[in-house]
Amino acid sequence: MDEKKTTDVTVLAIESSCDETAAAVVRNGREVLSNVISSQIALHTQYGGVVPELASRKHIEKINQVIGAALSEAGMTLPEMTAVAVTYGPGLVGALLVGVAAAKALAYGAGLPLVGVHHIEGHVSANFLEHPDLEPPFLCLIVSGGHTHLVIMKDHDEFEIVGRTRDDAAGEAFDKVARAIGLGYPGGPKIDLAAREGNPHAMEFPRAKIEGCPYDFSFSGLKSAVLNYLNHEKMAGREVNRADLAASFQNAVVEVLVDHTVRAAEEYGIRKVAIAGGVASNSALRVSMAAACGRAGLKLYYPSPIFCTDNAAMIGAAAYYEYKKGVRSGLDLNAVPNLRLGER
Ligand code: KG4
Ligand code: ZN
Repeated sequence: MDEKKTTDVTVLAIESSCDETAAAVVRNGREVLSNVISSQIALHTQYGGVVPELASRKHIEKINQVIGAALSEAGMTLPEMTAVAVTYGPGLVGALLVGVAAAKALAYGAGLPLVGVHHIEGHVSANFLEHPDLEPPFLCLIVSGGHTHLVIMKDHDEFEIVGRTRDDAAGEAFDKVARAIGLGYPGGPKIDLAAREGNPHAMEFPRAKIEGCPYDFSFSGLKSAVLNYLNHEKMAGREVNRADLAASFQNAVVEVLVDHTVRAAEEYGIRKVAIAGGVASNSALRVSMAAACGRAGLKLYYPSPIFCTDNAAMIGAAAYYEYKKGVRSGLDLNAVPNLRLGER
């Protein structure tokens, strides 16, 4: 019942680790037949961030509808799938559980193999969806709301972590600064937009260096510097130029991300660089990274914005390579909120 006669591997992929309920149908890890995303942003905006209990409840309400839409947009039925794939970590435990339970039920009901996927491996794999020529090894900067990692993807499912954040994730810093200057949630896209009208050199914010770990990141000092600046200006009764602040903060983050990535590529002798995760859709990051990679003779890959933020197509891409390697999850698959990269 495991292997299908056809050589095509068509995966129904499910993602529910945070605040998007998503399902997609992906053929051979590269071809997106459908990509349905039900975002909960409107629900969480009123609280200024994701409320885990509300996220789980919303996933339960939406998951069947989203899966049905993914299959019908692909023009396919469940029995035509080769496998069912699902994000099982890391993420919010209650949110993950909804996707995992749905995937298990579908796999069991249709007699299909089940493939549990690591969310971060999914983000990296988003790069395969639009770049048919991209194969490991390559260096990937993963920057999302929950993660900031610099990894070498040596092979599919084989990662070497060369840098990580010591405190806040890059996206988290964007979200916190946006909240402090009254731009709302999620902050990344709002800062990106506001920064276009601002001067990135108007204010000087710190770029953290970590002794002995040249590729690690730290964003909490930068976030505090922005908050201190805001307080200082408020006490002095001065109006803050939000566009300049957004641009200067963004510039500080982008400079560190680009600098670490390009230096790591040079040190490890890797000529291909990819970026992934929600912050990878940041326009300043894309422009700066492209310029720096161009100067260093590195080839840069990045996904379209819709594949940068959470989606299930990226899970379908990662699942294909796991499936081909023979990875199968049992019906005892559980949500693992702190799942580490490279761990099963
Ligand atoms: O990958 P993602 O959807 O979820 C996680 O796995 O965390 O990333 C969401 C994060 C949020 O922090 C959001 O503010 C940030 O990505 N983000 C951006 C942009 N678009 C989304 N940050 C900076 N610039 C953007 N254009
Ligand atoms: Zn994510």
